[in-house]
Amino acid sequence: MYRRERKSAVARMGAPAPAVARRLRSPAGRGSPYCGTMQLSDSFGRVGTDLRVSLTDRCNLRCSYCMPAEGLPWLTGPEVLTDDEVVRLVGVATGLLEVTEVRLTGGEPTLRAGLPALVARIAGLRPRPRISMTTNGLSLSRLAAPLAAAGLDRVNVSLDTVRPAAFSQITRRDRFDDVVAGLAAAATAGLAPVKVNAVLVRGVNDDEAPELLRWCLQRGYQLRFIEQMPLDAGHTWDASTMVTAPEILAGLERHFRLEPVVGRGSAPAELFAVDGGPARVGVIASVTAPFCGACNRVRLTADGQVRTCLFAREESDLRTALRAGASDDELARRWVTAMAGKKAGHGINDPAFVQPTRSMSAIGG
Ligand code: 5AD
Ligand code: SF4
Repeated sequence: MYRRERKSAVARMGAPAPAVARRLRSPAGRGSPYCGTMQLSDSFGRVGTDLRVSLTDRCNLRCSYCMPAEGLPWLTGPEVLTDDEVVRLVGVATGLLEVTEVRLTGGEPTLRAGLPALVARIAGLRPRPRISMTTNGLSLSRLAAPLAAAGLDRVNVSLDTVRPAAFSQITRRDRFDDVVAGLAAAATAGLAPVKVNAVLVRGVNDDEAPELLRWCLQRGYQLRFIEQMPLDAGHTWDASTMVTAPEILAGLERHFRLEPVVGRGSAPAELFAVDGGPARVGVIASVTAPFCGACNRVRLTADGQVRTCLFAREESDLRTALRAGASDDELARRWVTAMAGKKAGHGINDPAFVQPTRSMSAIGG
């Protein structure tokens, strides 16, 4: 099964053949035979340059496709990386491993105390990464301006519906107005382009794609639909009821003229110009058309574990090494070794697929 997945995912995106040798490109560097030119390459020639850093596994919403109403057993304080530890590991990634993009995620990253100060420290790293954040938007009215001042470049806000009742049904919280205000604050603060992530849920908002797009176009937000993935803590995901990318596009095309935009690169969203452009809409077909062959992502959980994929079954513990006094070079080498084991694809469509133990909120989206 694995072999079949590997062939299809890599072939589809035209990824080069195995290229382990590229991982350690040159022995020159910063005082170690391995330093300075290490990259987070895997055995399929992909390079991890986009680091998703989860700052907490907690959240103040309870989206039905993510977590149960009662929440989850959260990480304890000592388990979560401190600000110093986050900055240290992000610094290793950007300084030694050629990571250029840092996406702050959660859970809900704005629940982290002192977030603007942490962003400022990441923005102070050299080379400076581009810094973005995935958020549910609830706190952006308060935080958008200080985060922008601290160096945050842009945000992705999760908003699945523009119908307040459907919002409450999906998120189990009556906070629609806060997200709308948060989005406006993000735009005002210049966290552009402001992107909106939407998941369509069968029987709740599966008919809402055109309405959501119109709403986002009117406000200048870039909307991207994400196919629901088997990452819910309740393990209730069902491929047969999932709202698929073709279904979403068919719904949109009844109201808008869509033309594919070429040159997707490693971006997960397939983009379409809307009614001749320049406005665009994206569809992330994680399940029906995986883009694993071009994946440039690597993940760090709030408790300091490297995950090479949302769907990885293994994690590599950097926190223990960090707290035991490992040098930057040692941490970088561990990270490189972890990345070498990245699988070709997520395998959701394989009969043998097993959902990861951690849910989306505990991994970082
Ligand atoms: N499938 C698809 N998207 C999900 N998200 C959370 N859980 C899932 C899931 N099971 C989305 C959130 C957020 C982004 C990080 O991922 O809505 O926009
Ligand atoms: Fe919170 Fe995001 Fe999960 Fe919704 S999907 S409960 S906003 S972590």
